[in-house]
Amino acid sequence: MKISPFKVEEWMNRYESGALYDLTTTCIKPLTINELCGKSGLSVFDIPLTYGDITGSERLKNNIKSLYTQQELNNITVTHGAIGANQLIFYSLLEKGDEVVCIVPTYQQHYSIPKSIGADVKLYFLKEENNWLPNLEELSQILTSKTKLLCINNPNNPTGSVIPNWLLQDIVELAQKNNTWILSDEVYRGLNLVGNPYSISVADIYEKGISVGSMSKTYSLPGLRLGWVCAREDLINEINHQRQYNTISVGILDDYFASIALENKNWIQERNFNIMLSGMKSFTDWLTKEPFVECVIPNGGTTALVKYKKSMPSRELCRRLQNRTGVALLPGETMEMEGYVRIGFCAIALKSALEMFSEFLHQ
Ligand SMILES: Cc1ncc(COP(=O)(O)O)c(C=O)c1O
Repeated sequence: MKISPFKVEEWMNRYESGALYDLTTTCIKPLTINELCGKSGLSVFDIPLTYGDITGSERLKNNIKSLYTQQELNNITVTHGAIGANQLIFYSLLEKGDEVVCIVPTYQQHYSIPKSIGADVKLYFLKEENNWLPNLEELSQILTSKTKLLCINNPNNPTGSVIPNWLLQDIVELAQKNNTWILSDEVYRGLNLVGNPYSISVADIYEKGISVGSMSKTYSLPGLRLGWVCAREDLINEINHQRQYNTISVGILDDYFASIALENKNWIQERNFNIMLSGMKSFTDWLTKEPFVECVIPNGGTTALVKYKKSMPSRELCRRLQNRTGVALLPGETMEMEGYVRIGFCAIALKSALEMFSEFLHQ
C-alpha cells in the first residue's frame, strides 16, 4: 500500500527532540507514574505482564463508558492510541471508490489513509473568518448522498476551535439526511476552555456517529499509547475483526494505568485546566503586543494556528527560528496551511519562547 508522507509527524521526528523550547507539542505536561499512582497508593510491581483483556478490561471499558451518555461496553473497543483507532476505522469502513469528505486542517491520517485505500477524498477547508468553524451551507454543497464518511476533529488540532453543540447537531442532521457516517476524532474532548469542558460526543447523538478518544491529551498520558472507539456494535465488531491483525491487546500496564487515570480524572482535569489557563494568558498577552501575527483565539484543545506577516514559507521560517533560538514551532505547510504556524499554548516556558519568536519576527 502506498501512502503520502505524514508531514506533521515527519517534521516533529526531525525537529522536536533537538528543541530547547518545544512549542510543537500538543500535550499538556505528561504525568509520571508516581504522580498518577501516588494518589491511589497502588503498586504495579506485582502485576503479571500478560496481554490482559484483548479488547480492553471491563474496568477500563466501564471507565470509558462513563465519559459518554449512550455507550455500553459492547460499543467500545480499545486501541493503540487514537492513531490506531482512526486507522482501524478507515480499514473497517472504506473501500476503493468510496467518497469521503474531510474537514481540514486536521490530523493528516483523516485524508491520507482514505486516499491510500483508493477513496475519493474531498477536502473542506475551514476559514479563519468563520472562526475556523464549518459553514453548514458550504458543507452541504460538498457532502451529498454519495458521501460515505465525513471526518471531523473536535476540538480541532491545530486551530483550537470547538464546534458548538447546536452546530454539531446541524452537521449530524446533514449527515443523517445523506446516510453518511461521521468519524469524530475527539482526542481533545474534555479540554474546552469555555463552558462545559466536554462537548457532546458524536457517538452519543447519531447512530452512524463514531467517536475516537485517547489518554494522550485530556489525561496527559501520551506514553500509554491507549485510545478507543465508541460506535454502533456492528461497526465495533468489524473493527475488532480488523484489529486481530495489528493489535492483539494494548498491554495490561497501559490498560491498568488508563483505568487509574480515568478514575482520578477530576484532579487531572483540574491540573490541566490550570496549565491551559496560564498558557492561554501568556499566549493572548503576547498576541496583543505582537503586530507580526494574527490569530483566532482557541476555545479548547492545546494548540493555536497563528498567521504570521512575513514573506517566508512556513518550513523555512520554522527551520531558521529553531536554528537561531532553539524555539520549535510547527510549519503550517505540514497541515496544508501555508503562511501559518502551529503553537502549542500549553508548552513549558511558553512566555520566553514567544518573546524569542517576536525578536526573530522583528529582525
Ligand atoms: C487530532 C489527533 N488525532 C489523533 C492523534 C493521535 O493521538 P494518540 O497519541 O492518542 O495516538 C493526535 C495527536 O496529536 C491528534 O492531534
